[in-house]
Amino acid sequence: MAYVIATTNMKGGVGKTTLCVNLAASLAKVGKRVLVVDLDTQISATLSLMSPQDFVKCRKDRRTLRQLISQRVDPSSPQLHETAGVIRPYICEQKGLSLLPGDLDLYDDYMVSSFLHEQANKDEDNKDFQTAWANFERTLIKGILKPIQNDYDFIILDCAPGYNLLTRSSFVASDFYLLPAKPEPLSIAGIQLLQRRIERLRQSYEDTEPMNIALLGIVFTMSGNLFSSRYYNQVMKRVQQDYSEQQIFKTQIPNDIQVSRAVDSFKPVVLANPGATGAKAFTKLTGEFLKKLELLTGTKEQKSRMSLAQMD
Ligand SMILES: Nc1ncnc2c1ncn2[C@@H]1O[C@H](COP(=O)(O)OP(=O)(O)OP(=O)(O)O)[C@@H](O)[C@H]1O
Ligand SMILES: [Mg+2]
Repeated sequence: MAYVIATTNMKGGVGKTTLCVNLAASLAKVGKRVLVVDLDTQISATLSLMSPQDFVKCRKDRRTLRQLISQRVDPSSPQLHETAGVIRPYICEQKGLSLLPGDLDLYDDYMVSSFLHEQANKDEDNKDFQTAWANFERTLIKGILKPIQNDYDFIILDCAPGYNLLTRSSFVASDFYLLPAKPEPLSIAGIQLLQRRIERLRQSYEDTEPMNIALLGIVFTMSGNLFSSRYYNQVMKRVQQDYSEQQIFKTQIPNDIQVSRAVDSFKPVVLANPGATGAKAFTKLTGEFLKKLELLTGTKEQKSRMSLAQMD
């Protein structure tokens, strides 16, 4: 069964998507079966892995995440596809790499709200709107991933910045989260804000469905020539005071124009230009990721295995 891993930070533009697609491609290159799920209406992960023309085709065929969400909230929506039918395998012509494309609109707020009101009125399990909402949030992403979880080694969820319904639902479905951050104060504040939110979410589900999600590590990204500056050292000192060595990836991703340029070829830099400095850093990070996971899963195996399997 796949490990579900969210790349997330409430702060925008810190390298979540770049980390998600490069980690996924690097894992596929070493023989893992990996699915990227784009949960952001900016569709950056989707457009990092396929051309806009291909995306338009997916959208026309209603093979995007939007369709899977619609099928859950809109009784009038045609039940066109199972999760597997929306996934694009062999993405970037890379064996083992698949994409569940995102969409510019993932759900209609009004539709969700009216669906939940209806649920709250007719269903005993959903006593009131708040309970209906919590049940929906708890099961949405889990329900979408459940039928395909045995087909992959890793499912990597690219979360939007902020803290929306899909991000919360992803946390309930995830075994781990990766926290990319720039070595600068506002980005570090984003780490703390997110961790507080996750703890609050964990408490709110304590009685219904204990959450498994644990921090896999903080990844410092886009660290330009800051690396050696005094300012960088001050920021890192603060981080080291708040987090243990195990919580911070040793490998940092440098600022490298080749990383952002790779998007032009609709491939992550580790596939488009593996010799680039940024690509090498992502490859190294992937090795560290696998080691860290091995260490953490020893202690977490019991908990993480129960996630989707126990859902009815
Ligand atoms: N190591 C890097 N070197 C150079 N540019 C980078 C690097 N990592 C990311 N970028 C660029 O920085 C921008 C933001 O990165 P990215 O989209 O991954 O961040 P994000 O956190 O996903 O943003 P958002 O919050 O909008 O989803 C992009 O243009 C990306 O190409
Ligand atoms: Mg992004």
